[in-house]
Amino acid sequence: MIEKSSPKKPFLRSLAGETQERPPCWLMRQAGRYLPEYRALRAQSKGFLDLCYSPDLATEVTLQPLRRYGFDAAILFSDILVVPDALGQTVHFQEGEGPKLTPVRHSKDIDALTLDGFQDHLRPVFETVSRLKDAIPTETALIGFAGAPWTVATYMVEGSGSKDFVEAKTMAYGRPDLFQRLIDLLVDATGDYLIKQIDQGVEAIQLFDSWAGALPEDAFETWVIAPTKRLVERIKTARPGIPIIGFPRGAGALYLPFVERTGVDAVSLDTGIPLDWAVSHLQSKVALQGNLDPVLLMIGGQALDHAADRILRLCNNGPFIFNLGHGVMQTTPPENVGRLVDRIRAWRG
Ligand code: CP3
Repeated sequence: MIEKSSPKKPFLRSLAGETQERPPCWLMRQAGRYLPEYRALRAQSKGFLDLCYSPDLATEVTLQPLRRYGFDAAILFSDILVVPDALGQTVHFQEGEGPKLTPVRHSKDIDALTLDGFQDHLRPVFETVSRLKDAIPTETALIGFAGAPWTVATYMVEGSGSKDFVEAKTMAYGRPDLFQRLIDLLVDATGDYLIKQIDQGVEAIQLFDSWAGALPEDAFETWVIAPTKRLVERIKTARPGIPIIGFPRGAGALYLPFVERTGVDAVSLDTGIPLDWAVSHLQSKVALQGNLDPVLLMIGGQALDHAADRILRLCNNGPFIFNLGHGVMQTTPPENVGRLVDRIRAWRG
């Protein structure tokens, strides 16, 4: 791989294609309920979205895991569902139940969504980004994020999380004209949202496509690859040089066309991807990130050490960022995270 410019922060160096002796590390959902200081602060906020829209609190929550573990990157504290919220869909987070949205099922439901006031609604999130820029240590990079169009659309159409995505697929397969309108709106809205995050100070973007693995290959092409490619093009045209990490979770062998066609700089690997395959098929094209099983982080001990060592051994001969295959689980003992970070720091090829 041709090495691009050499930014100083270790996280950005990996994204630029550099191989490093010790890989940078951050964890998806590194801020959250496994941390007692998060739970304390969360108890003071009116609701989860309220927390996302309070720059003081969201900045503090973002910084909490950095203070404990000194990760190489901070990720803006927010949620992928602020985008439908800002488009005018009703979004609620119910305690212990996950998100609930008024489902978008018909043409008129899509007509009711609007970009008017979209950026205004998200102003507190941009304010959080600009505060974080000044608050994080100089060696730490700031990651902005959004959900990829397909995954956000599944929540919008289902009205909640789902196991089988029957409603979202019914629209995607049965009324592709309608589903395309929703996806197009999300490409536009998400593009605007991320460009604004960049202008406020994020140094890299991650696109979470948590449910990419639910689609067969032709639909994956239409609803994962094509919209992601458009979004990446749009962001990179507006703000050249911004590195973008894709996370098409569960995509299996479709990680390859995803990497070849979307234009991302890196991919986050889920737990199920065989690492030798990912290294030989993907790492010459993009940086890799991942893929420790979050359950191993929850268990800790030697099982965690062995799994972490194996990932380091296999992945760190090319551009690599240590992370999990999905988010930190709520039941994870914070000391296990410390144990993992110490082990990665001590790694020397
Ligand atoms: O630390 C970080 O990684 C940054 C913050 C972040 C959150 N959500 C905070 C959060 C990020 C990057 C997300 C992304 C997100 N949100 C995804 C994609 C990644 C994934 O997990 O697959 C998805 C699908 C969502 C939607 C979402 N948000 C769900 C389904 C839930 C409920 C499930 C749960 O864990 O409760 C949320 C809530 C949420 N988002 C919490 C946090 C810390 C917990 C809310 C609380 O404190 O009550």
